[in-house]
Amino acid sequence: MNNAPLAVFDSGLGGLSVVRHLRQILPGEDIVYFGDTARVPYGIKSRPTVAQFALETASFLLQFDPKLIVAACNTASALALDHLIRELPVPVIGVVEPGARAAVRLAAGKPVAVIGTEATISSSAYVKAIRALAPEQPVIGLACPLFVPLVEEGRGSDDPLVKLAAETYLAPLRAQGVHVVVLGCTHYPLLRDAVAACLGPGVQIVDSGRETSLAVQRHLTETAALSAAAPPGTIRCYVSDNPTRFQRVGSRFLNEPIEYVELVEAERYVNLPRRPSEVR
Ligand code: DGL
Repeated sequence: MNNAPLAVFDSGLGGLSVVRHLRQILPGEDIVYFGDTARVPYGIKSRPTVAQFALETASFLLQFDPKLIVAACNTASALALDHLIRELPVPVIGVVEPGARAAVRLAAGKPVAVIGTEATISSSAYVKAIRALAPEQPVIGLACPLFVPLVEEGRGSDDPLVKLAAETYLAPLRAQGVHVVVLGCTHYPLLRDAVAACLGPGVQIVDSGRETSLAVQRHLTETAALSAAAPPGTIRCYVSDNPTRFQRVGSRFLNEPIEYVELVEAERYVNLPRRPSEVR
């Protein structure tokens, strides 16, 4: 048993869609979350910048002595997971591998599509993770950049702009006989119904956040590190900018009110002595 908290980081508030599943699957765990709201979005940035930001953001959480760090941000997981695992003194679990594993299982050899930010898709991290598990698996990567601002504006699956964006991005996938779609971005689970409506009832949807939460549960079980505390665990959130907006918009992602949010000034986390120049 280990009552230390789980640490979760993201480029902003989207990672709360992963915390939502962690809370359901592991209700006794305490969670500390850091959203880098001052520097969001990561999804249009280069690998060295994302690697540096992700390492600084994750490192801030070490002061809470977490038993595990979850890289909830798909972009950070896709571009910087190896770097984080190398640099951080606690286990790190990203969202790409669990999502890829579920996609391969459900696809049974039929085509898979992965949707995500520009950076996630151009990294090919999901394609590589899927092919590592099933070398012959057909996989299509597709960036849907408008989905993030649409969700943050509060637009849901019934919104006409969302329907238009979904149809514009996803219609080509219908023609390619896609069998499984991976929601490879923290924001996309909030548009799950629009994606499903666009692709039709035969297409299965993988929520990487949920798969990652199940992977965290497996890890904690196998290492005898589950919390012994009675549920519900606590959630403390830290942000690098605009806690009021985080609280308001983030509660939709978390699906519960956010009670504790603290603003973190730059000097408390932007202090990395090394620039990860080796990350290209
Ligand atoms: N959290 C990011 C992701 O899952 C989306 C927002 C961003 O671009 O930073 O890729």
